[in-house]
Amino acid sequence: MTLPSDNIITSSRKATSLMADRDTPFLFDEWYVAAFATDVGRELLPRTLLGKRVLMYRTQAGKPVAMDDRCVHRSYPLSRSTLDGDTIVCNYHGFRYDDNGELIEVPSQKACPRGIGIRTYPLVEKGPLLWIWMGDPAQADESRLPDQPWTQDPAWECTSGYFQHPGNYVSMHENLLDLTHLSFLHANTIGTPDYAAAPFELDLKDGYYKLVRSVVPTTLAPVWAKSTGIQGPSAARIATSEFLSPGLHRVSVSFYDTAVPEDSRPVYRIHTAHILTPETRNTMHYHIIHGRDFDLGNEALGQFMHEGLFAAFQEDVEGLGALEDVLGDQDEHHYEISVASDAPAVAMRIYLKRRATQEAAASQSRQVA
Ligand code: FES
Ligand SMILES: [Fe+2]
Repeated sequence: MTLPSDNIITSSRKATSLMADRDTPFLFDEWYVAAFATDVGRELLPRTLLGKRVLMYRTQAGKPVAMDDRCVHRSYPLSRSTLDGDTIVCNYHGFRYDDNGELIEVPSQKACPRGIGIRTYPLVEKGPLLWIWMGDPAQADESRLPDQPWTQDPAWECTSGYFQHPGNYVSMHENLLDLTHLSFLHANTIGTPDYAAAPFELDLKDGYYKLVRSVVPTTLAPVWAKSTGIQGPSAARIATSEFLSPGLHRVSVSFYDTAVPEDSRPVYRIHTAHILTPETRNTMHYHIIHGRDFDLGNEALGQFMHEGLFAAFQEDVEGLGALEDVLGDQDEHHYEISVASDAPAVAMRIYLKRRATQEAAASQSRQVA
């Protein structure tokens, strides 16, 4: 047994201290997916987002609303209250709020105090997703919303799913930027042994981290071999992971058969939006939209691919839940060793940590001003 030298341990701890982890404060000045659009209707939907209790519903006209799930009077959860028209009536002492969070009635007195409403949050509905902005309202710029138009494009056929994920969102972004885990964590589903050692290219910018891995030639995992019809060892699998924002990661894969001449071979493409919304420090809401651009209208194929892929995502959820348990141990002797394939994830984690530090400083200076 050769343990790392003290020098290596010291420098690895120093490097890790610059990277975001489960204890890094959330980035509030970003758009996150609060829910699938179909999840929010005329029922009151409570959800913890970025550590805050939020209540969502739709007005009678269909406008989605998000507000703090906490009555201004004695903190009763408004999600246990009554939706009356477009207003919420607290089920404890009857304070009534409109859909802008304004307090408009206090039943025990004639005059309703003014200017003590509760906070509402901008919500933007784009196709199947509801995006929320929980940071500085002055910065809630819709042009920064990391939209994914393919999720609404008829040229892509999509399915979707959701996991209540028992891991932190930083680890999940790291998981998606290091798909060498396909050969191990997903050895029985979507991975193949050659995946981890396949060559890759990087494109690392501030806030955008991309890794393209070319597994060529390869034999496709059964779920892809069956859905594309590419059997045998001459397949190509080109996988691109892209960190698009703290709340969104996209993995795109192209499959083709290298035995077929380039000008006549079909290319089968899939996209997966991994939509990560922190719930608490160590849990998250994991929405997923998966699409393909081939064999449209083939429902049985869509179902087959969905089941194959979501079996793999279940492995991520269970694996990162187990990882989270270990991270929760207060082990003062702990250190992390990074290797070459960690480069994009390390850059991404440094970015998240720097953003969190900047946001904390900006918020503090707003409070002082
Ligand atoms: S706690 Fe809501 S009205 Fe009293
Ligand atoms: Fe995975």
